[in-house]
Parts: sequence; C-alpha cells; structure tokens
Amino acid sequence: MTSQYHAVQEAWRKDPFGFWLDAARGIDWTKPPETAFDADGGVYGRWFPDGELNTCHNAVDRHVIAGNGARSAIIHDSPVTGSKRTISYEALLAEVKALALTLTELGVAMGDRVIIYMPMIPEAVFSMLACARIGAIHSVVFGGFAAKELAARIDDAAPKLVLSASCGIEPTRKVEYKPLLDKAIELATHKPGAVIVKQRPELEAALIDGRDHDWEALRAKAMAQIDAGTDVPCVPVKATDPLYVLYTSGTTGKPKGVVRDNGGHAVSLHWSLKNIFDTDAGETFFCASDVGWVVGHCYIVYAPLLRGATSILFEGKPIGTPDAGTYWRVVAEHGAKVLFTAPTAIRGIRKEDPEGEMPKRYDLSKFTALFLAGERADPETLLWAENALDRPVIDHWWQTESGWPIVANPLGLGLMPIKRGSPTVPMPGFDVQVLDPHGQPVGANDMGAIAIKLPLPPGALPTLWNADERFRESYLSQFPGYYATSDAGFLDDDGYLYVMGRTDDVINTAGHRLSTGEMEEAVGTHPAVAECAVIGMADDLKGEIPCGFVVLKKGTDKDRATIEKELVAIVREQIGPVAAFRQVLVVDRLPKTRSGKILRRTIKAIVDDQPFDTPATIEDPAALDEIRTIVRDQ
Ligand code: COA
Ligand code: AMP
Repeated sequence: MTSQYHAVQEAWRKDPFGFWLDAARGIDWTKPPETAFDADGGVYGRWFPDGELNTCHNAVDRHVIAGNGARSAIIHDSPVTGSKRTISYEALLAEVKALALTLTELGVAMGDRVIIYMPMIPEAVFSMLACARIGAIHSVVFGGFAAKELAARIDDAAPKLVLSASCGIEPTRKVEYKPLLDKAIELATHKPGAVIVKQRPELEAALIDGRDHDWEALRAKAMAQIDAGTDVPCVPVKATDPLYVLYTSGTTGKPKGVVRDNGGHAVSLHWSLKNIFDTDAGETFFCASDVGWVVGHCYIVYAPLLRGATSILFEGKPIGTPDAGTYWRVVAEHGAKVLFTAPTAIRGIRKEDPEGEMPKRYDLSKFTALFLAGERADPETLLWAENALDRPVIDHWWQTESGWPIVANPLGLGLMPIKRGSPTVPMPGFDVQVLDPHGQPVGANDMGAIAIKLPLPPGALPTLWNADERFRESYLSQFPGYYATSDAGFLDDDGYLYVMGRTDDVINTAGHRLSTGEMEEAVGTHPAVAECAVIGMADDLKGEIPCGFVVLKKGTDKDRATIEKELVAIVREQIGPVAAFRQVLVVDRLPKTRSGKILRRTIKAIVDDQPFDTPATIEDPAALDEIRTIVRDQ
C-alpha cells in the first residue's frame, strides 16, 4: 500500500486545529469540545479547553455498553509465576468499579493524587483506571526504584493514598515492595492517609494497623455493595484536568513530574494506536514494557483499551523467563498483531539466539511488525530482527514528555521506506526542527538540537506538576517558541530524522531513562568522596551503563576497592537496582576546564575508545592520561 503519510501530514499542516477536532470524534465526551486549542491557557496553550469526558468510560465502559463486554481486555501472562489470566472488558469494569468505590470510601476524590507502586499485575491496571474513573490523579512509580526515590515522589505528589502489592518477581529474587514503601513513607515529609496492599501468593506482607488495608477484603466489601445496587459512575472531568503525573529523570536529583491531561491524552492515543501501530478494536497488542514507564502507561494500558483492543500484560523478561523465545511464545499464543519493546530486549534475545532459531518454533501468522523505542536502535539489531522475524522492524522516537511517538513510521497509514538508523518522519502535530545554538534552523544533514515548534500536540505535557516555572526553564527557554527535546540529531534530504543522543546528562540504560547528575549526587554523599563524575559508557546489551570516576578526600585511609564497593551500594540504596551502577573507579584528579567544569564528554570518549580533541581550555592534560591508563587496565 502506498503510504498516506504525506497526505495526512499535509491535512494536519493545512488545518492543525481541525485535524485534532476531527480526531476527537473517536472519543466519547460528556461535553464535546467546540474549541480545539486555547492559545492563552496554561503555559503555551491548552487543548480542548471546553471539552469534558471521563477516560475510564472511554477505556472500559463504552466497550461494554456497545455490547463488547465479552471481548478480552487484558491478558496477564506471567512466566515468572507460571500463571495466565484473561480479563474481559466486562470483568475489567467490575474490578475497576469495585476499586473506585473503595477509593471513594477511603476519602479519595476528584483531583486527589494516588501513588501506585506495583509490579506487572492486573491490579496495577485496575488501579490506574479506578483513579481515572473518579477523577483522581495517579502517579505510578516503577518498582526498580529505591525507597528514597519513592519518598521524593510521595513528597512532590502528596498522595492521599498509596496502592501497592506485597512483592514483584525478578528472575533472581523477590522484590519486597512493602518494606520499601514503609521506608519511603518514613523518609517522606508527606504521610499518605491509607495504603492498600495486594497480597500475592508468593509473599505475605505485614500490614500496619490503622493505615494499611488488605486489597481482597476491601474488594469483597465493595463488590457486595455494588451487587446490592450501589452505583459507581464515571466522574466527568475537564479535558484539561490531569489524568496522571509520571516522574522522569531530569538533570538534577529532583525528578520532573510530567503532567498528562485527560482530553489530549485520549485523543492522541486513540489516533496513534490505529494510525501508527495499525491496531484496532478486537486485535491484540503486546507492549513489553512496564506500567512504571510512559511506554507502559500509553501502550500497555490506555491506547489499547481506548481503542477496544486486547492488551497483553507481560510479567517477565525477554531472556531467562524461561528463554529467549518467550516473546515469540506470547505473540503466538495470544495472537498479537504488533510487539513493541526496547532495542535492549532484542539485543538480549540476539545474544542468546544469534541465528534467530527461536521465532521459527512459533506460529507468528498474526504478527505483522515489531516496534522499537526507548533508546537508539542500532542498525545491526534492526537487521538481525528483520531477518529473524521476516517482518518490518520499526524504530520510533519519543519521550515521557511527548506522551506518544514524535517521529515514527506509521504502519497504519502505510509504511514509508525504512532507513535503518532513522526513526523515520514526524507525526502530525509535531513540527520537528533541528536548530543551531542561536535557535536558527540548520540545513539538511547538519547536526543540531532537536526542537519542536510550539504548540505541542494533544497528549504532550502541558506543564510539570506544580512547577510551571521549572517547565518553562527546562524546556521552553532555550529556544523561544520551541520545546527543546534535549536530543541532538539531523534531518536528511527526505525529512527523515536521525537521533544521535542526549545533549544533557540523561542516559538510557536498558531503555530506562536515568540521570547521571542524580547518581553523582548519591556518590557525593559518601564521606570519603571529594568530587565525582558519572558518565554513560557504551554497553553491548544495555546501550549505555553508568560509570563513575571519583576523587577521594585527602587523608582517606580506606582502600580503594572497599570504597568502590560502598559507592555501588550507595547508588543502589538511594536510586535503586534499575540504575545498574556497578562500575566506579578512584582517580587522583578529574579532567577539568580552567573554569572548573568537569570534561565529562572527553571522559566518555576515552571510556568508549572514541576519537576526541583535547579541549583547548583543559586545566591539566595529565588528568586525561590517568583516565586513559586506568580504563586501559580494567
Ligand atoms: N522491580 C524491581 N527491580 C527491578 C525491576 C522492577 N520492576 N525491573 C528491573 N529491576 C532490577 C533488576 O532485577 C536488576 O536488579 P539486579 O541488579 O539485582 O540484577 C536491575 O533492576 C536492572 O534490571 P534490568 O535493567 O531489567 O536489567 P537485567 O540485567 O535484569 O536484564 C535485559 C537485562 C536486557 C533483559 C533487560 O534490561 C530488559 O530487557 N529490559 C527491558 C527494557 C524495557 O522494557 N524498557 C522499558 C522502556 S520502553
Ligand atoms: P523516556 O522519557 O524514558 O521515554 O526517554 C526518552 C529519551 O530516550 C529520548 O529523549 C531519547 O534520548 C531516547 N530515545 C527514545 N526513543 C529513541 C529512539 N527511537 N532513538 C533514539 N533515542 C531514543
């Protein structure tokens, strides 16, 4: 099929507001929007300012009302516990109503925040939808973060209640959520009034009297009330009201609370699942991420459900649960049309199955394409996957902030020719430009900062939680009139974008977004550390892993190996295992400019064995020699 991409892009360019009002017709509104965009609202304008809707109604109720209640909504496939469970739209509605009633009875009302700290179990999805049903704002925190990170999010979001589970299952250990949560609440200044805990058969968590509640007991009570006639209606909210806050790494230790509003979110995700991912009602979508990340919010939970599709909720890893064929088994068994994962997962699979034998063992007849995002997709990995799967492998680029793909190859509109190494072309709504340091567009094929001309489209962040000024400073002040993505790259002659890397100190480890600045803050809390630099070091499997260099305070008598071990433990304790911080080296001095700026890019070039020019402003060139020697000896 010839791609309709250019025609659709042209339609959007000609009438951007009409384009999105038209897309908004795919959503049920309690008050349909008459105005697409209010340029005077919010920080840079607001989408659908006069619309009202309920996201849970659109994701659940309306499919049941339309007579599709028996259709599968969620398939939980959990190789780590050996269990599988299919939940129909009707059953999902019953669960969400029961939890929404429970939340209401515990005092949660419209606009209140609820933190969800859960593994990949259906109750995590029920939790998000129950909040949406009553107009509460959820904030999901990824399980791989440490108590201190969770505490920072509790203090920023000030939740009335926390929803959690007794444990998550990692291949090598059980992650005990409850002690981590208890510790986080102890560390936080804000104290949530209640905690609801889903006890899993693998581990029973201790509950604190007066604060903690058992999930099943509350569920049974709420179900009985609903059976007796209690109604739990969807609460209409303004399109501009927040649906969720999702924290992501910035350049400092304080995570940024990305706000997602209800209206723009529903419209953009509903549009994107069909037009980008070519998946619609009744078809099955498999997004192998985690509900703690933006990809999980959008393409495990909301987009498939808004469209009436079936979503696979996978609790496992691409390798080792039990083998590198597990994704293909899931695709075949549940008839997934599309798989969406991170390149790191495919690199992991390729390592275990270099010849691509595993996919051949399964019936992949319904499977049409593999989508990859979260980090740069290296051409070798793309090529391996194309050969092993004999299907298009589609790289696409986006961010927690954008809420849906900025640049992609839209399968639903007909694929554009694939150029390996490029996530392809901007999606409607995103006017992507490459700018020089003065904010002027550069020519084709010239590298620069990737920016998006304002306004951002529906679904992208309107601001940061309680931090309009930080939003302006972080994203809008560098290039007036543009949103700065903090990624660098270039557009080629055909308008294809190439994303080459971040311009700040954010790194991508196994598709997880991490701040090296935050790791430096953690390392700096060790009493023997005088100064430090953490850089992202190239890694075959995870793309990049953090690597620290530290200078010790004079007179430190502990041996270097002990200090290095302690520093690894500190980062794990303060940020979490997901940081994958395992490598740290003690040096006599760090290379710096004469004005005292640490030359992190030069250190990274040495570690990655890449060519570099010694900066003219370097204070002490011998510091580079020391790093070179230490790295060579590793
Ligand atoms: N809860 C608690 N801990 C978690 C966790 C969670 N939800 N997810 C990961 N962790 C822990 C892991 O157990 C591991 O801890 P360890 O140091 O004790 O071994 C650590 O965080 C790092 O985990 P991970 O990044 O998953 O690496 P891994 O070595 O366990 O696995 C891969 C390697 C390549 C298989 C794996 O990184 C992968 O495929 N990840 C998928 C990436 C992805 O989907 N990203 C989503 C963004 S779109
Ligand atoms: P996150 O907010 O966790 O989704 O991370 C967003 C960042 O991941 C982007 O700013 C990029 O640096 C990187 N990223 C995501 N997808 C891609 C991609 N397809 N190619 C290159 N980098 C990507």
